[in-house]
Amino acid sequence: MYFEDLVPGTGRREPRAWLRSSAPVISLNGRWRFKLSPGPAEAPADVMSSDLVDDDWDELAVPGHWVLQGHDRPRYTNTAFPFPIDPPRPPAANPTGDHRRWFDLPASWPGERAVLRFEGVDSCFKVWLNGVELGTSKGSRLPSEFEAGAHLRPGRNLLAVRVHQWSSGSYLEDQDMWWLPGIFRDVTLRSRPAGGVEDVFVHTGFDQVSGAGTLQVDGVTTDPAYAVRVLVPELGLDLAAGGPVTIPGVEPWSAEVPKLYDATVVAPGETVELRIGFRTVALEDGRLTVNGRPIFFRGVNRHEHDQYRGRAVSEDTMRQDLVLMKQHNINAVRTAHYPPHPAFLELCDELGLWVIDECDLETHGFIYTDWQGNPADDPDWAPMMLDRMRRMVERDKNHPSVIIWSLGNESHRGRNFGELAKWTRQRDPGRPLFYERDRSYEFSDFYSLMYTPIDELERIGTRTEDAPAETAADPPLEARRRALPFVLCEYAHAMGNGPGGLADYQRVFERYPRLQGGFVWEWIDHGILLPGATDHVYGGDFGEKVHGGNFCIDGLLFPDRTPSPGLTEYKKVIEPVRITGPDPLRIENLQDFATLDHLTFGWTEELEGQQVAAGTLTVPSIPAGASATVPLPGTLVTGAPAGGAGERLLTVSAVLANDEPWAAAGHEIAWTQFALPSNGLPRGSSAPTTQRPARSARRADGRVVLGTGVFDPRSGLLVELNGLPVDGPRLDLWRAPTDNDNGQGGNNAAVSAWRAAGLDRLGHRVEAVEVEETELVVRSRVAPDGLGLAVRATYRWTAVGERLTLTVDVQPEGGWDGPGGTIKPACESWPRLGLRMALPRSLDRVRWFGGGPAEAYADSRQAARIGRYSATVDELQTPYVVPQENGSRIDVRWAEVSDAEGNGVRVDGAPVFQLTARRWTTEDLERARHRSDLTARDRVYLNLDLAQNGLGSASCGPGALPQYVLAPRPRTFAVTFSPLSAG
Ligand code: GAL
Repeated sequence: MYFEDLVPGTGRREPRAWLRSSAPVISLNGRWRFKLSPGPAEAPADVMSSDLVDDDWDELAVPGHWVLQGHDRPRYTNTAFPFPIDPPRPPAANPTGDHRRWFDLPASWPGERAVLRFEGVDSCFKVWLNGVELGTSKGSRLPSEFEAGAHLRPGRNLLAVRVHQWSSGSYLEDQDMWWLPGIFRDVTLRSRPAGGVEDVFVHTGFDQVSGAGTLQVDGVTTDPAYAVRVLVPELGLDLAAGGPVTIPGVEPWSAEVPKLYDATVVAPGETVELRIGFRTVALEDGRLTVNGRPIFFRGVNRHEHDQYRGRAVSEDTMRQDLVLMKQHNINAVRTAHYPPHPAFLELCDELGLWVIDECDLETHGFIYTDWQGNPADDPDWAPMMLDRMRRMVERDKNHPSVIIWSLGNESHRGRNFGELAKWTRQRDPGRPLFYERDRSYEFSDFYSLMYTPIDELERIGTRTEDAPAETAADPPLEARRRALPFVLCEYAHAMGNGPGGLADYQRVFERYPRLQGGFVWEWIDHGILLPGATDHVYGGDFGEKVHGGNFCIDGLLFPDRTPSPGLTEYKKVIEPVRITGPDPLRIENLQDFATLDHLTFGWTEELEGQQVAAGTLTVPSIPAGASATVPLPGTLVTGAPAGGAGERLLTVSAVLANDEPWAAAGHEIAWTQFALPSNGLPRGSSAPTTQRPARSARRADGRVVLGTGVFDPRSGLLVELNGLPVDGPRLDLWRAPTDNDNGQGGNNAAVSAWRAAGLDRLGHRVEAVEVEETELVVRSRVAPDGLGLAVRATYRWTAVGERLTLTVDVQPEGGWDGPGGTIKPACESWPRLGLRMALPRSLDRVRWFGGGPAEAYADSRQAARIGRYSATVDELQTPYVVPQENGSRIDVRWAEVSDAEGNGVRVDGAPVFQLTARRWTTEDLERARHRSDLTARDRVYLNLDLAQNGLGSASCGPGALPQYVLAPRPRTFAVTFSPLSAG
């Protein structure tokens, strides 16, 4: 059967470019009749027949996936095939969707050749027009065209398409994503006029020395007798197809300045519109260059995903993705792991992004046979693989944005890749090739890895990395590999809260010319909202036995395309302009081509988080790669600061001077904050006091009273602050584990050591409540059941006026750290070190002076800007699809938590603390698997932390770097509480 053989397709036309043509076209998108059968054998034999009555069939939106429209359900696996590995056979249970659609051929439809074109059908289909079989095809994310003209009829026509969810092709489509069958991209009927343009291949070049462009347009017509002309009005060109011709004085295309020239390819029967970009891609001295200059990728891996529509993404969504990327300083996309909808690449040409276009090819699941039977190394599969490469290259060859062809993803080593590389190099010598998973790199022009730890990256940067086993015994191959440029095709796994460490990666990338940047994994969470649902589903939500859990919820965007804090962090880290200083203030242009003339630079001076002065900076024109020193307004550095006493900060910011197609004038590109000499006060002490602690501690009425505080005499916990009921602060080390804390499949899981040390079940035994004259001292031992280790916590309370200061002294006790210790493996970190307390639920507003506006953690804090912010408790939550630790504000000098009238509590740090506020406990957060599992309690819970452990990226990659690890060791920290009252 066609769905289980190794034939890529039957009846299909030769692949060709995706072209905007003047020839008539009919869209066949819309409502189709649909019937799902459990397998091919059960599907109606007469699906193609006009006699079949399909009135009782359901309707389905095409493009679309039936599993997202109420038929069957989606499945998610990471690497595992959700069927037995028995290539090339698909499983017996092979859901088969029959799609039928009647359409009218307009009277004006030319009576000539026509083709039916499918941009993407997952995973295998057969098509009939008016009862006649046109052919079959596999290759889900690739186009298929069939001759249709001879079978068209005037008036009504019947199109029938049978789609099988599984096929031999599925063995080549084991990408880490949802299995989503269906006709998920456009269907069109295209007239093919005599004397039309069958195909076009535009080759361009740009000579950065002379400024000349070269242009060669290979045009293919239905009949070689017809001449094809190429017109580029802006360049005054009107030439016969062919070439190359040299054109002096063209503007080159780059991701930074995406200059496109509109061109028309004219044949007697058809005109095709193109947009041409002049650029030369090359490998020179071990580096990738475009137009003679090495380029640097600030990239992301992008899957096509829409929370309702799966991979049937609309053009608006594609544009939204690219606009968001440009707004966040991203300059490159790897189309992981298949060619995207063709319109996406047009948008990349237009808006300016470097693209690695990846073939629809991944055989990852053969990891479970130890790669036995891997199609990539079986010559019988070569035609299926080559077919995919050809269809991608032919379709996408005219896009200036596409600068690299990727042969596929994670399919191990295999000789068939040699075939793909050979064909591609011959067909398109103008683009280098990429393939990461063959460690010999013999078919790749790049050395590449995924999730590489920083120290290894340093070695790669200096070309001192160990040789892979695959090349160690082959000196010429190894020498070739070592000379290649390096691209980190996936890193910084953005699953849940994270990634941590982006800034550390960036520092290493920028240090070594061999490292040409990287691509964060990945752009968007693949959470799906099924009809009527409020929670996003992920693997396991249907009780399935084989699934990949929430491993596909690992994007910089939430499923609804709201940027996550990870994206804001990435934007900051990859700023194409670096501002350092403040005296002197230096502005560095990190771009590869453009000046900074499109930006304006401004400064503000803030006193205690409030702006007291502002101005603009005069910045000279700075070419790419250069920098300039800019004088600061005199008063800032030298003399008379504005305003009164307090902490002074200078913020310098670079914004767009004019509207761009992807952002309005004023959109911020880069910023830096500097501490200015403060007006005589240390940070965080805006309300200093010289008062001495009150001698007010006393026991009364079965309570302990100190200043504005009332304490429980046995637990020593604060129960009232100025009349406000409080569940007193007490030591807390636990956080609801993040996906990164959980590691990958139990590996590299910080949480294992934490649980082994009982940090998730600490109890508090109060040993003494000592009421002294000026202070209350509470001594306690904090320890888990079943273990000998503990933390001694001493709480020391003093009162000054209305202010209550709590100093906490923490002493780890017992074997936290390793051999001989009471727990194994050693617990080398704590998730948090801080206090937890609860307030009445009406205190649901927070104002703070510190880092913001969004959450930040030790190794993901570049985007936190010191300022004054306010938010409701609900707004402080970061809506991770799988609930986990989130929402912590960093470097908080003070925070006010109050009700609508302004009654509440103020907390001052000494000098700073980390703050979270939620309507549920850490344990609630930990238990929740979906957001709707979280329900508000009648308290607001505050965490006041000295520190938290870094986030790292261990859900796939390295954990937090040592400098961000919160090690168990003695520490002391303090916070001050004071009552807030309305007015
Ligand atoms: C890579 C793979 C991606 C994704 C990622 C982890 O190995 O190429 O498709 O699985 O890991 O999310």
